[in-house]
Amino acid sequence: MKTATAETLLLGPGPCNISESVREALSRPLLGHLDPGFLEIMESTKAQLRQVFKTENTVTFPISATGSAGMEFLLVNFLEAGDKIVVGVNGVFGGRVAALSEKLGAELIRVEQEWGRAVDTEAFCEVVKRESPKIAALVNGETSTGVCQPMEGVGDACREAGSLLFMDCVTSLAGMPVSVDDWGVDIAFSGTQKCIGVPPGLAPVTVSERALEVYRNRSRPTPSFYFDLDAILAYIDGEGGRSYHHTAPISMVFALDAGLKEILAEGLEARWARHARAADYLRSEMAAFGFSPVVPEGERLNPLTTLYLPEGFDEAAVRSALLRDHGIEVGAGLGPLAGKIWRIGLMAGNAREESVDRLVEALKRELS
Ligand SMILES: Cc1ncc(COP(=O)(O)O)c(C=O)c1O
Repeated sequence: MKTATAETLLLGPGPCNISESVREALSRPLLGHLDPGFLEIMESTKAQLRQVFKTENTVTFPISATGSAGMEFLLVNFLEAGDKIVVGVNGVFGGRVAALSEKLGAELIRVEQEWGRAVDTEAFCEVVKRESPKIAALVNGETSTGVCQPMEGVGDACREAGSLLFMDCVTSLAGMPVSVDDWGVDIAFSGTQKCIGVPPGLAPVTVSERALEVYRNRSRPTPSFYFDLDAILAYIDGEGGRSYHHTAPISMVFALDAGLKEILAEGLEARWARHARAADYLRSEMAAFGFSPVVPEGERLNPLTTLYLPEGFDEAAVRSALLRDHGIEVGAGLGPLAGKIWRIGLMAGNAREESVDRLVEALKRELS
């Protein structure tokens, strides 16, 4: 039986376990949010985020709230009531972009795909070229299904149509190839609790020059205090001094800085490859129990693997026994996949064979 102080091995859809250096950063003495020492760390975080997003965008920084706030920040600043948006919907998170766009009064055009498959980029690009929306949105790592959405070619279609390309890379960033500038992505957001290996609490975002031009041409001011881009830039950008907008979550920024340093020390390519090896190992080990992949090869998200359950498997009972008796968390299915699949995350430091071995050992004991 797991003790109250033992660390749970977090193999769900995020958060994942954090490293010693991130833990140390979280417990560092606080600085004020305008302290030059803190601002130096914020600047270092912004520079490292540019490397991880693979972008030259000056406007690249962490929003002070979880991943969903990244989505909301991008939509409230770049989409106005009456604007058109085309959204690829093949799971929960594309559905959320669509739902918020409608709440903001935009004209929504959905490009639907069955859950467990990537949106057909050719069909998506055709709709974008036909409709010339303000924004075309795709989820690069759909955590509800385990699909990795190909992005190649979509940026060109968006440029032809005069649209901004929006990308959710919450689950893919730092765990799979993500290349904002090469893909022609204009606005993107992520979260800290997945492959960045930091607790939930910040949403890294990046904004291209093209997107900034669209923002400057808004017909009305952004209808939000907390997410107003100009107001945030007055603090985060620092040009001509910094003015208070909100109190930055100091400890979380320390932690993000530490997490990013680890990522860059490992090297992005090496980190992507480690996530790929761990996911391959997981799929092959779980096959022995009768689990089978939901997503076809070539469309799989390495940081989050989705597997159909074996015949007659009592998923809820085994999942709670894993947590209660073995200190291992795995994720259940969502929406139409609830009760049919498991979602197993191998993210950041957890993307190793040792994590899989622990899970396999525990499963053997539970099933014997
Ligand atoms: C793909 C995707 N987008 C958005 C979010 C929302 O992030 P958060 O839960 O940190 O607000 C998540 C969270 O799991 C996600 O997986």
